[in-house]
Amino acid sequence: MLIKKPDDIRSSEITAQSVYLDRRRFIAQLGLAGAAAGIGLQQVVTPPEACAEQQIPNLTKSPLSTSEKVTPMTDVTHYNNYYEFSTDKEGPAELAKNFRTQPWSVTIDGAVAKKQKWDIDSILKFAPSEERIYRHRCVEGWSIVVPWVGFSLSELIKRAEPLGKAKYLEFTTILDPRQMPGQDRNVLQWPYVEGLRMDEAMHPLALLCFGMYGQTLPNQDGAPLRIVVPWKYGFKSAKAIVRIKFTEKQPINTWNLSAPNEYGFYSNVNPNVDHPRWSQKTERRLGEFFKRKTLMFNGYDQVANLYAGMDLKKNF
Ligand code: MTE
Repeated sequence: MLIKKPDDIRSSEITAQSVYLDRRRFIAQLGLAGAAAGIGLQQVVTPPEACAEQQIPNLTKSPLSTSEKVTPMTDVTHYNNYYEFSTDKEGPAELAKNFRTQPWSVTIDGAVAKKQKWDIDSILKFAPSEERIYRHRCVEGWSIVVPWVGFSLSELIKRAEPLGKAKYLEFTTILDPRQMPGQDRNVLQWPYVEGLRMDEAMHPLALLCFGMYGQTLPNQDGAPLRIVVPWKYGFKSAKAIVRIKFTEKQPINTWNLSAPNEYGFYSNVNPNVDHPRWSQKTERRLGEFFKRKTLMFNGYDQVANLYAGMDLKKNF
């Protein structure tokens, strides 16, 4: 994001990513062959990256899903932006594997009738779990299609009983440098903070997310609770949330604080507004070679009315 230009990413990183994943598959196959040749079945069925994800029962399919081809799970779970663990895309999968997500609670405060602390298990019972297949585009120019699991963020907002003066939501990630080595570095100001306007947060597409590919979220993808806002660049979708504050004023989000001329508050996917250092007209799906055109609001036209009359070049 701040550190690398997409030119670098295009020529080295994204190509390197596919090579990297192919290499992983190759090594995995070698491992399987080796194991089959005599190391023992026990080792074959328990690969080192096997973690504590659990199957989520009774998933309903969401009509909000795209029918596009889903990105392979290994790609989505081994090419991550999660600066609390690493600035390398391949780092979080390994560095987050022992991250503790139990017990976990989320503090609800600010302009709400009932300030409270919700345990993660009670949040998960707010509504039936849905599988929602969304396009997700990173500001750096890569994109993925993921079957997320969760339900609309509005389900939580309703239960928080926001006061009339609550105009925004501020999401804060856990601050725990003992578990998150990246928080010892000043690459960003910690904890990671993101924000949404109330009407954006109430839009049915805004997802409170606790799973992907039918299972609980892998740590590197934001376990145990994150948001997914599919019409915005990926950095708006904060991971490992421990606090949701309802505010009167627009929150200051971490990337905006870090580079205000590069990362705005709104950060809607917009092919007509270039990043100061690169074009946003095209993107590359993980695992694909050719680029595709980036769509306004990432193709989620149903949110356009949220921004009627706004200058989206100014409010980038
Ligand atoms: N949330 C936290 N707490 N820390 C981060 O570094 N990175 C963001 C977003 N949420 C980030 C975060 C960025 S830049 C992107 S593109 C997405 O997470 C990536 O989500 P994924 O790794 O699940 O694909």
